[in-house]
This record gives sequence, structure tokens and C-alpha cells, in this order.
Amino acid sequence: MAPSTLTALAEEKTLQASFVRDEDERPKVAYNQFSDEIPVISLAGIDDVDGRRAEICKRIVEACEDWGVFQVVDHGVDAKLISDMTRLAKEFFALPAEDKLRFDMSGGKKGGFIVSSHLQGEAVQDWREIVTYFSYPLKNRDYSRWPDKPEGWNEVTKEYSEKLMGLACKLLEVLSEAMGLEKEALTKACVDMDQKVVVNFYPKCPQPDLTLGLKRHTDPGTITLLLQDLVGGLQATRDNGKTWITVQPVEGAFVVNLGDHGHYLSNGRFKNADHQAVVNSDCSRLSIATFQNPAPDATVYPLKIREGEKPILEEPITFAEMYRRKMSKDLELARLKKLAK
Ligand code: SIN
Ligand code: FE2
Repeated sequence: MAPSTLTALAEEKTLQASFVRDEDERPKVAYNQFSDEIPVISLAGIDDVDGRRAEICKRIVEACEDWGVFQVVDHGVDAKLISDMTRLAKEFFALPAEDKLRFDMSGGKKGGFIVSSHLQGEAVQDWREIVTYFSYPLKNRDYSRWPDKPEGWNEVTKEYSEKLMGLACKLLEVLSEAMGLEKEALTKACVDMDQKVVVNFYPKCPQPDLTLGLKRHTDPGTITLLLQDLVGGLQATRDNGKTWITVQPVEGAFVVNLGDHGHYLSNGRFKNADHQAVVNSDCSRLSIATFQNPAPDATVYPLKIREGEKPILEEPITFAEMYRRKMSKDLELARLKKLAK
């Protein structure tokens, strides 16, 4: 049975069995053994076509080809907005359980609070609490599912969503141009771009070596902008899980992950970031993921197939169908794993 919050479990000496992962899935690198391999790219001058733009674009494209992950600084999102967003998110998770559970989203509600997130049929839980809301298109905003505490949440989250939508579109322009397309090509391919924000809280964990905050995955959408505190825990791999690195947290930076949709549209040229989050027994960690996704009925198919390449998808499908296939593949893998035990 899933617990309703992790607060009590975080104080125990041993980890509840429902969080214990198979050995092959457990963390291989410590949460604070940082690597500087993921490029940190300054966006200062990105609009200056006669200046730094070409150099910035080159670095972004290289990072997407290599990892599907990079970090951006000097991105134009106000530091005060970032610190307000982080402070409010921390205050939300520190609320008494009954305040958080008023927004409980179990039972299929769209948005709100939930402990962990685990796929149907999946035996092991992630060590995290989340609060999530749908912010774009505007018609998807159901304010009855947005927390009414702490004070100021609504105004700050709205502004944060708007600024991150702007930053995401700017990054998609760079990737469109790199594919030799008009700069709006990727945003147009999203039709009416969706945005969903997931705030992750990973409490300190009694036995972090046995579990994950968030299991290994690729994001389904176009790109994700992740804000993380300075604790560390985001890990990436580029050799199919043989080696993992812990991304060095950088104050005020966004980690940009390319998702499956971006990967397919580039015909596999840009990697979909393979990543996970680990936890620790020293302190809690906060991260805020802003997912930029295409509309459910947007077409998923390479926008550019380079000479000598074959399309990596057999036929155009909708994003909803792409997502359905991804989920059923995950369920099938989980089922086979259970059978093999
Ligand atoms: C995510 O993949 O959505 C979150 C990862 C993190 O918390 O570092
Ligand atoms: Fe992710």
C-alpha cells in the first residue's frame, strides 16, 4: 500500500520494502560525486546574430548530439523569480500532511499532490513526493487543482510558467535552425504546445543505496527545463547505463533535457536524455521540472531526414499514440522482469 506522505518514513532506520529496487537498478555513483562533463552554456548574446549566437548554437547542438542534456546560465529568467519559486515549493512540502493531501491526485485527478509516482503494474516506488500542475495551453489550467497554500503560489507559478515557455521556445529555435529548418519549425510541430510543471521533493532517505528518487527514464516530450537545488542527485548516462554521472548543480542554471519527441523529430540526431534521480541520507532535495510537450494530436515524425538516413519511425503517429506505446513497452519490460525473478 502506498503511504500518503513520506514524512514519517524518512525518520525510520530502514527503508520500507516497497521502495527497494533490484540490484541492477540501484545507484552506481554517489549523489554528490559530481561530474563537469555536461556542458554549462551561457546564453548571453544569443539574440546577437553578428556576435555570439553562432557559437552558442554550436555548443547546444553538440550537447544534444552527445548527451541530450546541457545546462544553461544567463538565460534571462529573473533570479528573484527563481528563488521565489524555490522557496514556495519548499514551503508547500513542509506543510502538514492534511494540507498537501487536500490536493491528492490519486484516482486519476489531473494535477495536485501525490507520493511517489509509479506505473501501474510496477512493483517498486520512487522515493519522492510531487506537486504538479498543467499550465499551457491556458484552457488546461484547472486552478481548483493548484495548491492554495503557501500564499503567493498562484502568481509566482503563473509567471514562472510564462518565462519558461519563452526560454523553451528560444532553445527550440536553435535546434530547428540546426536541422536546416525555419526557426519556428519545432514549435509549429508541437501545434499548441503543452506545458506541465512537476515539483519534486526527495526527503532524506534511510537507505539511499537501495532505492531511487526517480527511476531511470527518458522524458516523452520535446524538451524539459529542470531547476535543481545545490544538493545534487540528477544522473545521466550516454552509454546505455554502463556508466552514470551525477550532474554538477549550478546555482540558478536550468538543466535542459531533450525528450523522445525532440529525438524523433530530429530523426535520432539529437539524443533523448537517459536519466534518473538518486537520493541521500544527509538532506532533502528539491527540483522543478517544466515539461514542454506537443499537443496530444500533434504528429510525431522526423522533420528532416538527412542524406543516407532512414526514418527512425515507420509511419507518422500522434503524440498520444507515441506516449501510449512508450507506456505499454515499459509495462511489458516490468512484466518480463517480474517473470524472470
Ligand atoms: C525528472 O527527471 O523529471 C527529475 C529529475 C531530478 O529531480 O533531478
Ligand atoms: Fe525526467
